[in-house]
Amino acid sequence: MEIKIEKTAIQSSTADTLIVNLFEDVTIPGGATGAIDKALNGAITELIAGGDLKGKAGEVAVIYPRGAIAARRVMVVGLGKSEEFDLEGVRRASAAAIKRARELNAQHVATIVHGAGIGGLDVAQAAQATVEGSLLASYRFDAPKKKEAGHDISSLTITEYDEARIAAVTAGARTAEAIAAGVFLARDLVNMPPNVATPTRLAQAAQTIAEAHGLTVTVGDRDWAAERNMGAFLAVAQGAGEPPKFIVLEHNGDRTDLPTVVLVGKGVTFDTGGISIKPSERMGDMKSDMGGAAAVLGAMEAVGRLNIPLRVIGITPATENMPDANAYRPSDIITASNGKTIEIISTDAEGRMILADALVHAETFQPDAVIDLATLTGACVIALGGGVAAGIFCNDDALRDRLLAASDATYERIWPLPLYDDYRRTINSDVADMKNSGGRFGGVGTSAVFLREFTNYPWAHLDIAGMALAERGKDYTPTGGTGFGVRLLIAYLQGLAAKG
Ligand code: BES
Ligand code: MN
Ligand code: ZN
Repeated sequence: MEIKIEKTAIQSSTADTLIVNLFEDVTIPGGATGAIDKALNGAITELIAGGDLKGKAGEVAVIYPRGAIAARRVMVVGLGKSEEFDLEGVRRASAAAIKRARELNAQHVATIVHGAGIGGLDVAQAAQATVEGSLLASYRFDAPKKKEAGHDISSLTITEYDEARIAAVTAGARTAEAIAAGVFLARDLVNMPPNVATPTRLAQAAQTIAEAHGLTVTVGDRDWAAERNMGAFLAVAQGAGEPPKFIVLEHNGDRTDLPTVVLVGKGVTFDTGGISIKPSERMGDMKSDMGGAAAVLGAMEAVGRLNIPLRVIGITPATENMPDANAYRPSDIITASNGKTIEIISTDAEGRMILADALVHAETFQPDAVIDLATLTGACVIALGGGVAAGIFCNDDALRDRLLAASDATYERIWPLPLYDDYRRTINSDVADMKNSGGRFGGVGTSAVFLREFTNYPWAHLDIAGMALAERGKDYTPTGGTGFGVRLLIAYLQGLAAKG
């Protein structure tokens, strides 16, 4: 869907479908909605008066002008109560409207920016949210075998009557396009079957990003990792038929004068559990076990497009976790790249293993902050729910505050959980520096203190186990890969770059 910006009153647009909005409890629409209402001889006012249109969030009324204006149809989307309205309301309203337009086979759609009038939101932010909601809701994964792809809208024009606002609308819309490209990449990678989204395929995605936006890419193979003593990463990769890849993307890699943020994403392209094999029921969902890597690659795509003025490094250790004659086993003792030893209790606690070496590698960039994203524990899903919030563990108050602010702005929710030392005791080992599993209780906390053993800088760990894959679509997130984390990371990085 192509995004255009036009300085015009929406009723004079040449699009076939026009989108305007209405707050709840408004009886006489104003602004662009009022202008269309007049052009339609009071059709919207009449719908409101008759109780057919209430302006509730998510509500969409379709009106047929039949020649009163050039457009074939006008859609009025509800924004809900004005006192509860925010950028998330803009994204949801945009999504509701564009989804209906697509159902009706609209080709060219025009919309006003939601919320920048009586909504009182910042124009650039409202424009960004309007375009984000529209694009993200229009996402579709083209499965290889599916016959009809279904209808896609070809263009969305953002109309703005006020010349003074055009620059802000344009900036917001372009930012949204860059971010949506990152989210789409992350969703695609999660949606691909695990025989396609292999470590090699993730490395290709990283190479494509690097070429398109001038980033540096390193793809380390088994030998590369062995030279760096990455025993924990290699232990998981030992049983993998697909060659493992340790992928590093650098944006402004040589600009050590800039603040450095390292993003680390768990890239287990399929998690069978290994020798500690998982039950077969729903095992297929474990193709999403590279959701952290997908989020990091998606974020790097957006970082490149937006040319964010920071030094941003993306690290994605990628491998399958398979049962095999060569696979690592419970009771093995493994040495990670910082020299710490790990007693394997469960080969299914593989995410923390590959992250251990990635977190150690992150330190070579002398980072000001490291953020890892990982579909790490079922325990986190038990604690916070599926599709509700990711858990965040953080050893630095300023970093946590910035991430929470980004979470508020994007509605990618993260909920703080504690890094208690008590959890550390559960992974004490008689034969190594630590065990890789502390048992059932507090499983999300023990995984986090395990990772802490490999960090030496301001660090945040996001457990996105419940967030990477959506069983059912909602608002602007269709069923399947969600791309969770991309928008959060970009909002965080933009906030840091602006020192806001
Ligand atoms: N990839 C899983 C975690 C997971 C579970 C992600 C559900 C998404 C949905 C992870 O590798 C895993 O198997 N964790 C184990 C850890 C345990 C063996 C200590 C778990 O959560 O059971
Ligand atoms: Mn596992
Ligand atoms: Zn896993």
